[in-house]
Amino acid sequence: MSLAGGWVRAPRGAQTAIPVGIDALGVAIPRRYLDLEDLARARGVEPAKYTHGLGAREMAVAEPGEDTVSLAAAAARRALEIARLDPHALGMLVVGTETGVDHAKPVASFVHGLLDLPRAMRVYDTQHACYGGTAGLMSAVEWIASGAAAGRSALVICADVARYGVATAGEPTQGAGAVAMVVSAHPALLELDVGVAGAASAHVHDFWRPLGHREAQVDGHYSVECYLDAVATAYRGWKARAIARELVRGDAPPSEQLAAICYHVPFCKMAKKAHVRVRRCDLEDATAPWDVSTEELRAATSFQLQVEPSLGLCARIGNVYTGSLYLGLAGLLHARGAELSRRRIGLFSYGSGCTSEFFSGVIGPRANERIAAAGLDELLAARERISIDEYHRIMALGPGAPLGEPPSSGGPGSPGGFRFVGVEANRRRYERT
Ligand code: HMG
Repeated sequence: MSLAGGWVRAPRGAQTAIPVGIDALGVAIPRRYLDLEDLARARGVEPAKYTHGLGAREMAVAEPGEDTVSLAAAAARRALEIARLDPHALGMLVVGTETGVDHAKPVASFVHGLLDLPRAMRVYDTQHACYGGTAGLMSAVEWIASGAAAGRSALVICADVARYGVATAGEPTQGAGAVAMVVSAHPALLELDVGVAGAASAHVHDFWRPLGHREAQVDGHYSVECYLDAVATAYRGWKARAIARELVRGDAPPSEQLAAICYHVPFCKMAKKAHVRVRRCDLEDATAPWDVSTEELRAATSFQLQVEPSLGLCARIGNVYTGSLYLGLAGLLHARGAELSRRRIGLFSYGSGCTSEFFSGVIGPRANERIAAAGLDELLAARERISIDEYHRIMALGPGAPLGEPPSSGGPGSPGGFRFVGVEANRRRYERT
């Protein structure tokens, strides 16, 4: 039986329905990180601005060997192992990224080769800033739900290295990492409410990265406004469909009927701002009287219950662009997987430029066991804290810089991971670690 009520008719009028969603999830992060209090002191900023004002504690720092491909391949290998999926059951591999390594050859094609995946499958990248991974996830889900997958699964990877200029306002919101998801029928982790989503897009210059630039350009405060406008429109689109499909009731605030909401997390405070905006939509749309005088307190309580549990990993890794929402999902399951079993959650994906989507799904009964297999505590514990001088040294390295010592533990450099080792005859080369 479907958990979510997100039933999808199989093709040719068959009466069977296919529950579709995320079956397993693997995470890869760089082996080194910078403590944001160290960064604040180096910039002459009150540390509370980063830790409380932005809600960030640590940020992952990628070395040249830890590029988007090596992070993506390491996360994908873990996800496939956790799902115990025969690679021949895959029919699609999509990588969502905005920090690819080549203008033509997709990251997905490198991953396809590194994991030795079968030839008979679709392999491509999707790009729209941080939304690229969600574009891949939606394509995979709809491919399976339509019946076109004919029983096969998809591998969707979100992988990025987020870079702003040294000493810019965006600097404390950097990060790097990859989240890979096996997308299947009868998923163990999260069954999506297929066809129940709200989208919002606009042509805005809130964040961009011109060709040839390594660092993003950003109109920071404007980008926050663009995100908040998008979440309001997307959430309203979702709720109209969710009420019509009777996934939530219309006579009570729909956002409060979700057990949790994961937002795209460029920095943790953004999720709080987004949640306040979503609640304001419910308040403005309410048909029953709403006690406005207690709203601030209710919003704070609801943030603690519905959103904060998803922020643990994000606060320690930073913005991983396409993977940020799914790092939030991993963090939520890690913190509250057992109690959320069979409960509906909301998810909001935002990509600057901009496009966005609010969607929902139901946590699977085996989510707890699947997230435990991702070894998230071990990944964090294996990391090395670096000094501000070492951070500056890494940031000053050019893309073709000689690579340092092979990493000893953690991240994509850990055993079974992958590492970029240089360019030979104009071809990027990778090694297993
Ligand atoms: P800023 O201007 O340096 O910071 O940069 P601020 O002055 O706005 O302060 C930030 C917060 O800290 C404020 O809280 C301050 O009050 C507080 P708020 O008013 O927002 O609630 N604060 C303090 N709190 C405690 N103690 C103190 C203290 N001092 C100040 N002593 C900004 C902030 C976000 C603009 C900057 O970090 C930035 O440009 N970041 C990059 C852009 C970004 O992350 N945008 C988010 C939305 S767009 C998005 O999510 C897409 C993206 O992921 C890209 C993609 O799609 O690919 C970025």
